[in-house]
Amino acid sequence: MTTRIKHLYVHVPFCKSICYYCDFCHRIYEESLCDKWLDRLKKEINDTCKDNYETIYIGGGTPTSLKCEQLERLLKLIYPFTDEVKEYTIEVNPESLDEENVLLFKQYGINRISMGVQSSDDKLLRSLNRHHDFETVIEKIELLRKHNLDNISIDLMYSLPDQTIEILNKTLDDVLALNVPHISLYSLTIEENTVFGKKGISNLDEDTEADMYELICRRLKEAGYIHYEISNFCKEGFESKHNLSYWNYEDFLGVSLGAAGKIGNNRYTNTRSFDKYFNEKDIRDEDLNLNNDEMEFENIMMSLRKEDGLNIEEFNHKYNCDLLNKYKKGISNENIVIKDGKTICTNREILNRILLDFML
Ligand SMILES: C[S@@+](CC[C@H](N)C(=O)[O-])C[C@H]1O[C@@H](n2cnc3c(N)ncnc32)[C@H](O)[C@@H]1O
Ligand code: SF4
Repeated sequence: MTTRIKHLYVHVPFCKSICYYCDFCHRIYEESLCDKWLDRLKKEINDTCKDNYETIYIGGGTPTSLKCEQLERLLKLIYPFTDEVKEYTIEVNPESLDEENVLLFKQYGINRISMGVQSSDDKLLRSLNRHHDFETVIEKIELLRKHNLDNISIDLMYSLPDQTIEILNKTLDDVLALNVPHISLYSLTIEENTVFGKKGISNLDEDTEADMYELICRRLKEAGYIHYEISNFCKEGFESKHNLSYWNYEDFLGVSLGAAGKIGNNRYTNTRSFDKYFNEKDIRDEDLNLNNDEMEFENIMMSLRKEDGLNIEEFNHKYNCDLLNKYKKGISNENIVIKDGKTICTNREILNRILLDFML
């Protein structure tokens, strides 16, 4: 018996320009290459998408870097699988989002927008090679709201070179004034294969980073946001259903270059090479079959990121095991509590260290 997969991720591998910190799968947008990608994606979708998905997430790269006709082609490819969709998200960059895009979103059932803002400090934005200013963010949020697309998430970054606590605090003021229902806050990871990595830029010191995280958590909590996942905050009822499927360790299908997926004990990542994607039958770069212990550990790792942790009964049922007994050492860590049938991490800032105790 095959079980239904409820979640679909589609990766758009193009951007108008490349940010100095980013190592996601992307290439500078070219119209003809994008047409070719859409042809190949059509085949991949025909071969792999079988279900009606409850959540769909179009991420990137920059979906709004595509020409409008190409964006519509993409949305048409996905449309047959949207009958039962509850949450349909697309990532947008402020500078390339326009009214034509928004009308397409509405037409094809997209009901959630994730906008990459990073900071409200225009000088800092330029130092990241971002091509928008905060005024544009305000305008584009208004545009979305004009069309009743109110379920908006904003991505911000902290621990950036030259970002001070004061600059971050001002960004929080500016973003809170927008009153969006969801905010993600990512600490900069320096990736080797980026301008920052090649320049040898280093992270801010650990104390400053911890102070920034503390400031973020405090200010967002004061403003009425729930800290439902390590890097994610929302107003009540606005958790990302799609991302919760990752943290709940559910199955999901990922299509296109660079996309990842998990089906049962199989976890895969598609190639990042356009050449391989266009010319080879096997487009996987990584294709792992995990054993039960590996899956249990990944499930624990993902679920402890959430404020409401890991449901013990569900876990025991899923893996036919006894969590409290099998993971005694991890459970006895001083930062782990059991409450209402859930295993909860009370100090998610140091989750990676805590997880060591869950290794068998
Ligand atoms: C990969 S981007 C895709 C969406 C869109 N193109 C954008 O720029 O927002 C999604 C988010 O990942 C975050 N991100 C990308 N690279 C990162 C890095 N090296 N460290 C931390 N966050 C990063 C940024 O906040 C970005 O908004
Ligand atoms: S952060 Fe977004 S716009 Fe910038 S390079 Fe990465 S995917 Fe492209």
